Amino acid sequence: MTERSSPGRILVVDDIEASLKLLTRLLERDGHTVVPATSSAEALAAITNVQPDLVLLDVMMPGLNGFDLCRAVKSHPATFLTPVVLITALSATEDRIRGIDAGADDFLTKPVNPAELQARVRSLLRIKRVTDELDSAESVITSLALTIEARDPCTDGHCQRLARYAGSVGRQLGLSAEDLAALQRGGFLHDIGKIGIPDAILLKPDRLTRSEYTVIQQHTMIGDRLCGTLRALSRVRPIVRHHHERLDGSGYPDALRGDDIPLLAQILSVVDVFDALTTRRPYKAPMTMEQAIDELHREVKRGWKRQDLVDAFVAAVARENVLLGR
Ligand SMILES: [Fe+2]
Ligand SMILES: [Fe+2]
Repeated sequence: MTERSSPGRILVVDDIEASLKLLTRLLERDGHTVVPATSSAEALAAITNVQPDLVLLDVMMPGLNGFDLCRAVKSHPATFLTPVVLITALSATEDRIRGIDAGADDFLTKPVNPAELQARVRSLLRIKRVTDELDSAESVITSLALTIEARDPCTDGHCQRLARYAGSVGRQLGLSAEDLAALQRGGFLHDIGKIGIPDAILLKPDRLTRSEYTVIQQHTMIGDRLCGTLRALSRVRPIVRHHHERLDGSGYPDALRGDDIPLLAQILSVVDVFDALTTRRPYKAPMTMEQAIDELHREVKRGWKRQDLVDAFVAAVARENVLLGR
């Protein structure tokens, strides 16, 4: 491929001055901006301050070694999408396995071959650019969700609270990091489809007529379609579509029953109802936390919600104090 790569900002971490200089020279020759670091402390500071597009890490370093540093980059929400290349002195399989476990995206062996360095940097920068675009597409959707919330003063803070509550229930249930991230995003995006509901219905202060209620229900399907355009939101879509389903099949939009309702959507539904009950509306005073939890238990008895999920929410509330800052 003859494509010229657009230059990036590359953090190079190596405690040996000579190899740092060599890598810097090779990268600068391709037009990249190099941020050098000779210790893990310097590297950590640069990662937060400079937000590099790519990190080249020497494995052998005093203090935190390359594996630990790589793990730190990959476990931080602000940098986990930043590609990391580990530079190992040997092509030892063991080092590579440790590197993969630490989340490394690629490897180079010392002494570094300039052509190989160029090619790997070019390909990882290309991937980084794509993930950046996805990331910003997602933040556009999230700010859209917050704009919709701003249309209705009664729901102020609803999305943030839901993201917090749902995450906390997920942790209580020991869900995977991916599920926790989906719950967090689902909290923000679950009602994104309300963008397609007219103000006259969405903001109506009194009870809705039957046909108006049917229109409101469409927010689940509109939201599902909106999220469908982004592959990054594939785990969030089921939450958006199914957060109003009920175990006995009396919910919407698909009248799903029991385990057919995705677990994450069921969790979001528990915290969504709780937040609606404990929020002031023009036509009703907010319930206390205890009253709202009693109401959730009544929904379990009616066959709408799972007992264990309501219990997990109650336990999460007690454990994490998630209701603070309401
Ligand atoms: Fe909703
Ligand atoms: Fe909601």
